[in-house]
Amino acid sequence: MSAPATIINPKNWLDPLPVGELFPNPAPLEVDVGCGKGRFLIARAKSHPKSNFLGIDRLLTRLRKIDKKIARADLSNVRLLRLEADYSVHFLLPPESVSVFYVFFPDPWPKRRHHRRRLFQDSFLEAIEETLVPEGRIHIATDHLNYYEQVHELMTRASAFNEIPPFVPTEEEQTDFELIFLGQGSEIGRCSFQKHSR
Ligand SMILES: C[S@@+](CC[C@H](N)C(=O)[O-])C[C@H]1O[C@@H](n2cnc3c(N)ncnc32)[C@H](O)[C@@H]1O
Repeated sequence: MSAPATIINPKNWLDPLPVGELFPNPAPLEVDVGCGKGRFLIARAKSHPKSNFLGIDRLLTRLRKIDKKIARADLSNVRLLRLEADYSVHFLLPPESVSVFYVFFPDPWPKRRHHRRRLFQDSFLEAIEETLVPEGRIHIATDHLNYYEQVHELMTRASAFNEIPPFVPTEEEQTDFELIFLGQGSEIGRCSFQKHSR
């Protein structure tokens, strides 16, 4: 039997999601922020059946494609949320509910006057810190080296995190955008951080 439709339609968009009720089995929650077409999300959910995965993206067309892939692969450990990423992390993820965040190839907003639209800002990091469990991790990748430097500086300045060796995806886990950038010969900046224990 194929998995049911996986795009979440919260009854309440103001309070934290009942994340435990979204999945059939209780398991650590891993969140792919800006999951795009879901190549990483699907591969990771298949190879890690003992974790639950939430993909967040604002583009419904992309989430519908992932939803079909989830049904074809009969995965019960993936759910999708069509919403703005910063709002989702700030308001919909409960405190200390996430074991791993993945933020792969966030929009770089290359023009200086648009930098304030970038996802990584102090307030986003505060929300990441609040929603991660103690010792939870965040893995980041971008082809935009100026953005990489900004993110790396923000993360190393944040006292709640320690830098750890960067997450390197397997071939199956490389994201759709990563494949494009690698095809263009772009350098990829990767970094990972772990929240302190209590
Ligand atoms: C460059 S793509 C990367 C997608 C995917 N992570 C990958 O590596 O293939 C950025 C994705 O983030 C989504 N996105 C950008 N800004 C967002 C925001 N503020 N809230 C939610 N999704 C956002 C876009 O719709 C797009 O799918």
